[in-house]
Amino acid sequence: MPSVEVLRVTGGKRLAGEVRVPGAKNSVLKLMAAALLAPGRSRIRNVPDILDVEIMGELLRRLGCDVHHDTASASVLIDVPEQPDTRADYDLVRRMRASICVLGPLVARVGSADVALPGGDNIGSRGLDMHIDGLRRMGVEVSSEHGYLLAHSQGRLRGAQTWLDFPSVGATETILMASVLAQGMTVIDNAAREPEIVDICRMLTAMGAHIDGIGTSTLTVEGVESLGPADHATVPDRIVSGTWAVAAAITQGDVTVLDSQPEHLAIALEKLVTAGAAVDEVEGGFRVRMERRPAAVDIVTLPYPGFPTDLQPQFIALNSIAEGAALVTENLFEARFRFVQELARLGADVRTDGHHALVRGRSALSGAPVEATDIRAGAGLVLAGLVAEGTTTIYGVGHLDRGYAHVVPALAGLGASVSRDQVSDA
Ligand code: EPU
Repeated sequence: MPSVEVLRVTGGKRLAGEVRVPGAKNSVLKLMAAALLAPGRSRIRNVPDILDVEIMGELLRRLGCDVHHDTASASVLIDVPEQPDTRADYDLVRRMRASICVLGPLVARVGSADVALPGGDNIGSRGLDMHIDGLRRMGVEVSSEHGYLLAHSQGRLRGAQTWLDFPSVGATETILMASVLAQGMTVIDNAAREPEIVDICRMLTAMGAHIDGIGTSTLTVEGVESLGPADHATVPDRIVSGTWAVAAAITQGDVTVLDSQPEHLAIALEKLVTAGAAVDEVEGGFRVRMERRPAAVDIVTLPYPGFPTDLQPQFIALNSIAEGAALVTENLFEARFRFVQELARLGADVRTDGHHALVRGRSALSGAPVEATDIRAGAGLVLAGLVAEGTTTIYGVGHLDRGYAHVVPALAGLGASVSRDQVSDA
């Protein structure tokens, strides 16, 4: 009989202790793609042990790179050939939307890229129009055929004045990685400012790129003829850090989150203080303590430094057992509220209308089988399971594995009652 993996969480345990945070998923994938910009061996350190890193490794191998991921030292070595291949196949891209990040480096370095149009998370439309518009401004011809995006340029890309309608993380990265090898100057106005963008700018700088305005919404890039490989450590994962912070607050626990940069989470941690937690910086991270039932907190997701959409489901979970009611506004991914239907199975009282959700706190949730539909939905359901009475069985564990390394031992180490089991899928 076929079986599937589930996560079983039995609620009611207060989490306490220390947890370490790995490098950021949403940075490391782009850093690996950036390695394509130079022949030779790049090394990326502080690499999280997650499925998406394996998928990106496989994609780079298909492009002709040698990729060696050493989980013991949390590093990836990437040997990039003089002439990489240019096709990113659908079977990989459909498993990981972030595969699109090879588009900019390939077209900049080899003048050509055929990238399958992405699938990935089920969290809304997620267009590519700004990526394409930016590349076109740099002289790249872009078309789509048979489900593939075809990008070609005659000779070197030309630096250009570009701007984004919205500070898209992915579009900023595509244009940035294309511009570093372009002829002349590129300006990206209304660029994303996420710590992961700063991280990739630092790696590109280490490779020899000239970038001004790092961390601001105007990036100015003076293209260079060639780049060299780099050795770079990935920025800590602020979303994993934030998820642990909510785990501490929701369970009225006391958790120290290490290998973390709390300044990248300022608004989210402030929200936890508003909810009644004590948050203190400690060396190498921060500590969250909660000694009461949380108070409801309103959330509005926005590009960095606004409140991150990737922590929205976790805060809905927190609000679902809080005292009072909270209004949560999602401005990035409309379908992210799909997860509230699953949360409702645990007894949460959440009403959505367009991109708003009204969460009325309940004094208790009750464990039930639920399905994770994307990474952060999975995280939200685990958090709710930690406080629900009885056992919550979470299906769709594969989503969670894409963003959270070794989640069961980490939770168990903090005192949670959690296991990973096979159940029949009849
Ligand atoms: N958008 C467009 N056109 C474009 C690009 C984006 O309309 O050309 C829209 C999208 O449809 C979406 C919004 O702009 O509504 C935000 O998209 P953005 O490009 O900023 O996000 P992304 O690069 O697709 C990354 C992360 C997401 C994270 C967002 C926002 C990776 C691999 N993904 O996505 O992470 O939510 O930035 O911070 O870096 C996650 O980790 O769970 C996750 C979904």
